[in-house]
Amino acid sequence: MDHVLIFDTTLRDGEQSPGATMTSSEKLELARALSRLSVDVIEAGFPAASPDDLYAVRRIAEEVGLQDQPPIICGLARTHTADIDAAWKAVEPAARPRIHTFLATSEIHMKHKLRMEPEEVIERVIEMVRYARSLCDDVEFSPEDACRSDPEFLYIVLEEAIKAGATTLNIPDTVGYTTPKEFGGLITGIYEHVPGVEEVILSVHCHDDLGLATANTLAGIQAGARQAEVTINGIGERAGNTSLEEVVMALHTRQPVYSLSTRIDTTQISRISKLVSNYTGILVPPNKAIVGANAFAHEAGIHQDGMLKNELTYEIMRPETVGLTQSKLVLGKHSGRHAFKVRLKELGYELEDDDLARAFRRFKTLADKKKVITDADLQALLADELYQPPEVFALEGLQVACGTMDMATATVRLSGPEDTRHVQAAIGTGPVDAAYKAIDEIVGAPNILLEFSVHAVTEGIDAQGEVTVRIQGEDAPAAPNAQRNTSQLRTYGGYGADTDIIVASVKAYLSAINKLLAEEWPRGEGVVAAQAGAARKVESSVPAEAPK
Ligand code: KIV
Ligand code: ZN
Repeated sequence: MDHVLIFDTTLRDGEQSPGATMTSSEKLELARALSRLSVDVIEAGFPAASPDDLYAVRRIAEEVGLQDQPPIICGLARTHTADIDAAWKAVEPAARPRIHTFLATSEIHMKHKLRMEPEEVIERVIEMVRYARSLCDDVEFSPEDACRSDPEFLYIVLEEAIKAGATTLNIPDTVGYTTPKEFGGLITGIYEHVPGVEEVILSVHCHDDLGLATANTLAGIQAGARQAEVTINGIGERAGNTSLEEVVMALHTRQPVYSLSTRIDTTQISRISKLVSNYTGILVPPNKAIVGANAFAHEAGIHQDGMLKNELTYEIMRPETVGLTQSKLVLGKHSGRHAFKVRLKELGYELEDDDLARAFRRFKTLADKKKVITDADLQALLADELYQPPEVFALEGLQVACGTMDMATATVRLSGPEDTRHVQAAIGTGPVDAAYKAIDEIVGAPNILLEFSVHAVTEGIDAQGEVTVRIQGEDAPAAPNAQRNTSQLRTYGGYGADTDIIVASVKAYLSAINKLLAEEWPRGEGVVAAQAGAARKVESSVPAEAPK
């Protein structure tokens, strides 16, 4: 087979990155984008983790899983019947459902984590793969920590999994420990020693603890694996997973070396990278391969000179191939909705009428302030206007006074649940600090600001600023009658864009707060209690090193 299946696990392993929590609407939007990217499999989540997770996966199965030529929709399950039932319940509506079940096979995991004997592990795998197969024709099995497992034991487990009905065997380097040579050797060993392996798809799943995830994945593919498990921007547990864009572009750019193809529409890569960064609040480092801001920038004079003479001197792939267009859309007050819609379509956005109308209104406002609207501006505008969590609190107005007098003041007007309006003023170390304090006073959901970053979308004094924040819910006493879910302190990313960076900062903070409220204050009870005046005064949670 000269084709590598791309199994995207951004919504499952990627979402396990600290702070990568996404709302169920964001997950659905991301699944739509993954489908446009033409991934073969979407691992949409871990349905047994919570009813919300199950619901999010099921929504994806019902919509994306029923499109024309849909991707496979996969749900992860431990080797327990309850997990497998939850995964099946979530993926069942899809035209092409898959259950992915896993159990550790390394001595260290079996002994200390599972407290199971090797024979018990084999029995459990047989029983649970069989059970999953009784529900679903497409079953993937992963021996967790495969790379630190005894190969002879691993071969037996894999053989039994095939006999029990597994259709894909995934080999994870769970802790990112292996080297490319070792990993390629492991895949070769599996081909040589596991009877029946030629009847199933062999898959690879690498973590990046030593920065070797992409190299290991490619070594696995060269040894015969035909499914690569990856995430957008390489997000995932700890140092992350293999990044989709790196594997796909390596296979694409070095086609003569690999002689393998994928179904991926590479022109969607930049856009989906941005979407994931916006939703998770996890920024892409500027020097990140393929999707970093500097990946196609040439700074040194010698390089620039070479580029001007012939792009091939320093460019091994065209930016257009990954969807980075240089085109500038010069639209202003007189520009029409049709041109706007066409450009969005070229960029891969097909919006419903309502969303298009909202985006167009925003575009007109921006065109009043900014002469040249670039593709990057359009992407920031859509991210800010459309791809936001449901708003519990929304910004209605902001006024700040700041300068050198140490008295930065912000007045914030928010709309809240049940059509309420709230106005609050606060003083801070700078305008952002003051505005965040005012918001904290209104909302009453204590949190810690973990990260704040601002950057210009384009060059020029009239550029839009985009702000990304990450906050963590604080374990504070709940307001009377509030049902706060404090089982785990999670982090939430928020994104905002505006030509005024203080406005962008406030939008980003509210976007993160709205996610926190949806997750930790279910049904808004905390919010309502806070508003009824029962709430405590919330101490400002913006740390000293917060942006001024
Ligand atoms: O890294 C890992 O081992 C996993 C498995 C669940 C496949 O994510
Ligand atoms: Zn993993």
